[in-house]
Amino acid sequence: MNRTHHNNELRLRHVNETVELKGWVSKIRNKTIIFIDLRDRYGITQVVVNPEEVDLSIYEKAEKIRNEYIIYVKGIVVERESKNPNLQTGEVEVKVIDLDIISKAETTPMMIQDETDALEDTRLKYRYLDLRRPKMQQNIILRSNVTRIIRNYLSDLDFIEIETPILTKSTPEGARDYLVPSRIHPHEFYALPQSPQIFKQLCMIAGLERYYQVAKCFRDEDLRSDRQPEFTQVDIETSFLTEEEIQTIVENLFVKVMKEIKEVNIKVPFDRLTYYEAMIRYGSDKPDRRFKMELVELNEVFKSSAFSVFSNTIKNGGHVRAINVKGGAKQYSRKEIDRLTEFVKKYNAKGLAFLKYNQNEFSGPINKFLNEEERNALIEQLAITNNDIILFVADKFDVSCEALGALRKLIAKEMDLIPQDTYDFLWVIDWPLFEYDEEDKRYYAAHHPFTAPKEESIQYLKNEPNKCLAKAYDVVLNGHEIGGGSIRIHEADIQNQMFETLGFTKEEAYQQFGFLIDAFKYGTPPHGGIALGLDRIIMILVNTDNIKDVIAFPKTLSAASLMTKAPSPVDRKQLDELHIKLQK
Ligand code: AMO
Ligand code: AMP
Repeated sequence: MNRTHHNNELRLRHVNETVELKGWVSKIRNKTIIFIDLRDRYGITQVVVNPEEVDLSIYEKAEKIRNEYIIYVKGIVVERESKNPNLQTGEVEVKVIDLDIISKAETTPMMIQDETDALEDTRLKYRYLDLRRPKMQQNIILRSNVTRIIRNYLSDLDFIEIETPILTKSTPEGARDYLVPSRIHPHEFYALPQSPQIFKQLCMIAGLERYYQVAKCFRDEDLRSDRQPEFTQVDIETSFLTEEEIQTIVENLFVKVMKEIKEVNIKVPFDRLTYYEAMIRYGSDKPDRRFKMELVELNEVFKSSAFSVFSNTIKNGGHVRAINVKGGAKQYSRKEIDRLTEFVKKYNAKGLAFLKYNQNEFSGPINKFLNEEERNALIEQLAITNNDIILFVADKFDVSCEALGALRKLIAKEMDLIPQDTYDFLWVIDWPLFEYDEEDKRYYAAHHPFTAPKEESIQYLKNEPNKCLAKAYDVVLNGHEIGGGSIRIHEADIQNQMFETLGFTKEEAYQQFGFLIDAFKYGTPPHGGIALGLDRIIMILVNTDNIKDVIAFPKTLSAASLMTKAPSPVDRKQLDELHIKLQK
């Protein structure tokens, strides 16, 4: 039982050859003559069992075949009468002369086809069947190809692949840790790494100069369609390179991936936007620039407006911003605007004001408050023409940006403004070094506590941390954050100041990161790196919104595996060994 060809290979040039194929039965039609679509990882070939041309015993075997049986066939390639242009092998079929059933299958709980109406729960419970669907297989294969391209590229640049521990100590990336209790050390725990951050820095102190890893990371945080509790980073660290040099390495990595996977030539260097500019123009720190609809600040226009919501907001230090939805006046009725208002409220906006412009006239509830000067300024600054609708949010800086930024994305989706097959890469740079938490009344590291401040910010570290910018950079593709990195602090006094600003005492810092603080004493090169979110990159390349489509065995939004049923209760005995008593 040989296998001479895969099921995507046969063409007219093979006619009259005797071939042997194996695969899963994707479809079977018995019209006295039996037609079988035989599927393997590579494609589908039609095989035909004609009772007038095979032994009865073979025909009887064929009659027993059901969907998803695995079979072997030997036959002769013939030209098809009715050709199937949708199949690579659609010009030929294989006339069976011998046939064997290799493995039987029960009726599957879902159809093994690209278009499936199976519920996601069913797909996850029977993931091995879901992964039989050609579309899913293509995603997984593409993922493997991308990883290979990245590995080759980095290895050609002298990067060393180094595995770092999974059973380790907490790495501060801002999420909750997954903990693993120790049996040998009662009452002590390992943490699964949120990223290999500390280890890759230690690799630089070790003098390895260029490290990378296709690294599993674990974060116990609220999950979304682009977030999994365990995910994969292409993690990179380098010594002696500047931000720009690291960014160039990443840009050329994407040049290679896009060329080889998509046959697309992307433009380098990528555009760079500061965090501040991204926020005021797009209302997002990961702007999607495939469509326009930029936010416009209108404080000058409305500072003495008769519409008190606007003028009061400005008086109180807030901002009035708007977007112009070109040609949206018809699409967004009163009721629709109510829906959009509820949407922006989720981003803490207090309301959503609007104006429509038709037949060279404004209309809408706030129109009566406007004077001619304000109307003209709006027309000019928002490039208003007939049939536009203008949507306003007046609020604190962050809310006015973020609420309109989210609305901008929602509307672009609803109005189908986002071009497909466009790849907009950019860097977001000049991030704040700290975030202030109003509730806790303290500063947190906006990235992690090892991120270096920009030279000109060092003076503010102690007394005006809110003024500090970081040597940090995110790479953004089509509105997704697909990577983030920074230059690290390599000088002990700056690191100590950083810990102090973050409210760590010397002892606390030492307790948590002592080994790193110690390591810094023995000759630390300037270093920096980045981590690329592999799952998110693959999502964009295969054009899906759902991260589960690009991970072989993903978890649900509640971090469970419906297939293995993890997490699950464990034996009493195991708990005793781990010195754990469960609460009622
Ligand atoms: P950061 O936390 O930005 O950086 O993570 C890097 C990239 O990983 C992806 N990512 C995720 N993907 C799927 N599910 C998740 N839960 C998830 N969380 C993050 C994102 C993100 O841009 N140590 C630093 C890197 C560095 O400074 O070198 C880090 O982990 O695409
Ligand atoms: P009100 O004065 O509350 O009746 O609101 C008048 C209109 O302004 C309504 O359409 C509100 O949704 C809208 N609005 C209220 N507060 C804001 C705000 N902060 N920013 C933008 N629009 C608002």
